[in-house]
Amino acid sequence: MTRGPAAGKTVVLGVTGGIAAYKAVEVCRRLVDAGVHVVPVLTEDATRFVGEVTFSALASEPVQKSMWSEADPIPHTRLGQRADLVLVVPATARFLGCYANGISDGLLSATVLATRAPVMVCPAMHTEMWEHPAVQENLATLRRRQVLVVDPAQGRLAGGDVGAGRLADPDDIVAAALAVLGSVARGQDLAGRRVVVSAGGTREPIDPVRFISNRSSGKQGHAVAEAAATRGAEVVLVTTATRPAPAGIDVVKVETAAEMEAAMLEHSAAADIVVMAAAVADFRLKAPADTKLSKADGVPELVLEPTPDILAELGRRRRDGQVLVGFAAETHDMTSRAASKLRGKNLDFMVANDVSAQHVGFDHDTNAVTILGSDGTCREIPLTSKLEVAHAILDSVIVRLGGQRPGGGIRRAGASGGDDNSRRDS
Ligand code: C5P
Repeated sequence: MTRGPAAGKTVVLGVTGGIAAYKAVEVCRRLVDAGVHVVPVLTEDATRFVGEVTFSALASEPVQKSMWSEADPIPHTRLGQRADLVLVVPATARFLGCYANGISDGLLSATVLATRAPVMVCPAMHTEMWEHPAVQENLATLRRRQVLVVDPAQGRLAGGDVGAGRLADPDDIVAAALAVLGSVARGQDLAGRRVVVSAGGTREPIDPVRFISNRSSGKQGHAVAEAAATRGAEVVLVTTATRPAPAGIDVVKVETAAEMEAAMLEHSAAADIVVMAAAVADFRLKAPADTKLSKADGVPELVLEPTPDILAELGRRRRDGQVLVGFAAETHDMTSRAASKLRGKNLDFMVANDVSAQHVGFDHDTNAVTILGSDGTCREIPLTSKLEVAHAILDSVIVRLGGQRPGGGIRRAGASGGDDNSRRDS
């Protein structure tokens, strides 16, 4: 796994007594692989499901279980202070109940009360318990207090039952934990920067009720906007998607390529960073009908014309000091096609994704991309959440901005210092 900004951070990994405890072993191992320092804290009940030795062998330190240690009279406070994140996998109904009600009945529940670090809980339990109002109200209380919740999935439960309450996929838990650690490490490194992001597929009308569009969900563009806002940027999101945008982002809702072009040209003029994640339709009707086309009139002949290439126009208008990022969804010859678009559209970065691969691109919550830089850098981001991909793109942009103050000039293509995880394209 790529060692990202989470490397060197400390996670207190709490494990409570549910059958899903065995999956915490995998979470532990994956976090250690990512360079995270993992401190395992098991409840007594957890040790009925998984062996202490397993965690002690895989984690960065031996298991801790008890408040009553000869070596340290206040282990919960120390753990809370050392943690960059407290991650509880699985979180049982009992643990959630204690935490929501401020009850400290052991080392782990005392640690989550004693820490100022973010806390992420991953509930897992039988459907009846998961749906019980007491559990849901406890979770609502925790959410209100900014506790991060990785919701359980549907699936096979202990005893062969099937339903909601199965622990979220360990891959998703690790991705969510790394995203939090990444934002702890990155801090407000985009403070004072103006970022404009486009998202979603455009809709080109055929008549008042029909349109030409594509499969884009807007998730990746929204994730870029969210990541930039988390890192302190002032963000304008020009989107066709109806999905909610995180608080603090200025959302401009558009539908067609023409509307998107107008909004992007207006807002990007003063931007430091422009990310064109939208899937703009390449063609539109030359003359959309004003009234609904009727079947009775026969099969219509649709005459198409190209839409404006917004990104190419942004590349032509780009002012000195602005970093311009495009996306290339490809099904074949990904790198060479993306590299030629990078040059043709005068970009700093082209984010290429192979949309024919599994779990990648349109409508998925995950993505795997290659970030090509105009300076020859080529950075592979293996399958991870779209939010992590967004952060990785912004990490590259930050390197390109080269520590210049917002609004200041930047070194142009070819003069960048490169980035930590990059390798030269051969
Ligand atoms: O050339 P291609 O359409 O593959 O390039 C993809 C990139 O160009 C994306 O960043 C997309 O947002 C942008 N684009 C655009 N206007 C178009 C078509 C694509 O801005 N009409």
